[in-house]
Amino acid sequence: MSDAAPATPVPPLKTLPDAQTVTSVRHWTDRLFSFRCTRPQSLRFRSGEFVMIGLLDDRGKPLLRAYSIASPNWDEELEFYSIKVPDGPLTSRLQHIAPGDQIILRPKPVGTLVHDALLPGKRVWFLATGTGIAPFASLMRDPETYEKYEQVVMMHTCRTVDELAYGRELIESLREDPLIGEMVEGKLFYYPTTTREDFHHQGRITDNLTSGKVFADLGIAPMDRDHDRAMVCGSLAFNHDVKAVLEGFGLREGANSEPREYVVEKAFVGEGI
Ligand SMILES: Cc1cc2nc3c(=O)[nH]c(=O)nc-3n(C[C@H](O)[C@H](O)[C@H](O)COP(=O)(O)OP(=O)(O)OC[C@H]3O[C@@H](n4cnc5c(N)ncnc54)[C@H](O)[C@@H]3O)c2cc1C
Ligand SMILES: NC(=O)c1ccc[n+]([C@@H]2O[C@H](COP(=O)([O-])OP(=O)(O)OC[C@H]3O[C@@H](n4cnc5c(N)ncnc54)[C@H](OP(=O)(O)O)[C@@H]3O)[C@@H](O)[C@H]2O)c1
Repeated sequence: MSDAAPATPVPPLKTLPDAQTVTSVRHWTDRLFSFRCTRPQSLRFRSGEFVMIGLLDDRGKPLLRAYSIASPNWDEELEFYSIKVPDGPLTSRLQHIAPGDQIILRPKPVGTLVHDALLPGKRVWFLATGTGIAPFASLMRDPETYEKYEQVVMMHTCRTVDELAYGRELIESLREDPLIGEMVEGKLFYYPTTTREDFHHQGRITDNLTSGKVFADLGIAPMDRDHDRAMVCGSLAFNHDVKAVLEGFGLREGANSEPREYVVEKAFVGEGI
């Protein structure tokens, strides 16, 4: 895949205590990539949480951004799924990392997209646009998700088909995974859609929920407060609109301190690149 931005050398991190080593990098499109790195021995996290990662800037100061951990908590390594913002202070550089390079990772995981923030239920909905699928890449690989729920529905919407590839491959690999494969069988429903390119399923998550199309297409019951729980991760506009849809089904927003029927996290801050 081609990279739009010119290659900028990744500054050496010398012997920073929070340095981790990149083990693999994969470019999915000219604006999306994923990478894996070593995991600090001390790092314990709940699937769905995020950490601060980054590089040193030109003056040798840490340039850090929030990133959802895309790998599950049992994985020996950490995985991240990233946008490439052409003039973004961090990602204009981060997109050029290669195996053997070092990144900074602050081992202080936090976040609201965790099982503890939801009341027990029968079905959980993971609702994501763009890179917002990252926390669900972790949660979908966590056996606890399938122990807690009878059904798991992953709705992921992007503008174009190529932007769905990371999620699609992940779900295919789950079905073949020796640990998770049997658990997801018949339980995990994947509903990817595009909004600006032809695809077998199209439309915004909000529209497919309010019209009832997703329930009809998957052959499942509509959402209700007694059975359904939801986790949301997308742009500010998406989060705002999908909250109204979930409230319309009777679900109420929860938090770590007060579990309820749905929780929300920003996939990024701002209006988009
Ligand atoms: C809780 C949280 C978790 C996050 N997790 C991830 C993650 O897993 N993967 C990831 O790629 N980013 C994630 N982000 C965004 C990330 O923190 C950075 O903003 C992003 O890496 C770009 O950094 P930058 O310095 O290059 O540009 P910034 O100056 O940080 O951003 C420049 C502009 O680019 C746009 N932008 C930033 N991130 C995105 C994105 N992901 N998708 C579309 N447009 C974007 C916004 O308009 C932003 O104003 C997360 C943000 C938050 C708050
Ligand atoms: N994706 C690209 O190919 C591309 C390329 C270059 C630059 N950009 C820029 O990058 C920024 C981020 O783009 P992105 O595609 O990652 O994120 P995005 O604009 O948030 O769109 C991601 C998906 O979410 C949907 N969506 C957006 N707002 C929504 C809402 N309020 N309710 C329900 N669904 C909603 C979009 O549908 P709609 O299509 O209906 O809006 C799209 O399918 C944008 O400013 C864009 O101009 C994108």
